[in-house]
Amino acid sequence: MYVPDKVLTNAYFESIVDTTDEWITTRTGIKERRMLENGATSDLATKAAEDLIKNHNLKPEEIDAIIVATVTPDMFFPATACLIQERIGAVNAWGFDLSAACSGFLFAFQAGCSLIESGQYKKVLVIGADKMTAITDYTDRNNCILFGDAGAAILLERSEDLSLGLQDFILRIDGSGKDKLYMLGGGSLNPPTKETVDKKMHYIYQDGKAVFKVAVKGMADVSYELMQKNGLTGDDVAFLVPHQANMRIIDATGERMGLSREKVMRNIDKYGNTTAATIPLCLVEYYRDGKIKKGDKLVLSAFGAGYTWGASLVVWAI
Ligand code: COA
Repeated sequence: MYVPDKVLTNAYFESIVDTTDEWITTRTGIKERRMLENGATSDLATKAAEDLIKNHNLKPEEIDAIIVATVTPDMFFPATACLIQERIGAVNAWGFDLSAACSGFLFAFQAGCSLIESGQYKKVLVIGADKMTAITDYTDRNNCILFGDAGAAILLERSEDLSLGLQDFILRIDGSGKDKLYMLGGGSLNPPTKETVDKKMHYIYQDGKAVFKVAVKGMADVSYELMQKNGLTGDDVAFLVPHQANMRIIDATGERMGLSREKVMRNIDKYGNTTAATIPLCLVEYYRDGKIKKGDKLVLSAFGAGYTWGASLVVWAI
């Protein structure tokens, strides 16, 4: 994983917009987030990949594919996956970027597992990385307090033991959510012009209240549905690994699943919403703290722009 050094505290936001630490903490659970001052998403992702390569004694040439979940690619093209491939020396890999906003990691994880299951690949690198500060309007108090920058990576490997790894999933998209959370400018619909810049169309727009309602229901319902489908109770699940958008959404999902608070991974207080990076960031932190063990059942769960949402049941394999 990689998070930049620069910390934006709630006190900082008190100094730039009309807000308070108390409002941000109680409404979102966020205390701090990180900002990458120089560089782009590929820098966050490359540093995360390098961290994984070092800690897992992985040879870059062994990587068969690289999937990068992001909504803040360095450029429209080439894909961020290409930029990372070159920098880490994954000379035998192919790869691509995947756009599913806050569900990006979950969708990329599923795509990576499918590559492994096809039997054609042995090692797939799945990275969630976003430089959200690049598309955040720091005059908009509704949104600017929410987002931060980070990158985190996991390695999917082939195993003969089918009781390990991805066991089941439910993933969904619903384009009727397109008007509630988006970035309008810069694409083929609204190519960049002076007007798109003046109208702030290159920033995140979010109807927070509307998204909050569907996110609470979507994430809690899909996580519960996945448990029911697999005959699991709260006792069977070691951890919920929820997308970190808002503490109240995280708590509601954990409660619906019948999980005690300590079984719900959270680091939103330190990093805010880092979009595609939140779930792998939680996984890496909890794994390195010795909290996740081989055989633990994890439910990964996310909700994001699109709308996109879903949950995956995973048995931790190392
Ligand atoms: N500081 C102080 N007040 C703020 C504020 C801030 N940073 N941002 C908004 N407010 C105000 C609003 O203007 C509103 O004032 P009003 O009632 O006078 O209009 C009031 O606080 C309440 O706003 P509301 O939208 O009801 O708050 P909320 O409880 O919905 O919380 C969010 C706002 C953005 C934190 C919440 O809606 C949310 O988390 N939404 C979903 C985010 C999300 O999950 N996004 C990504 C999907 S993955």
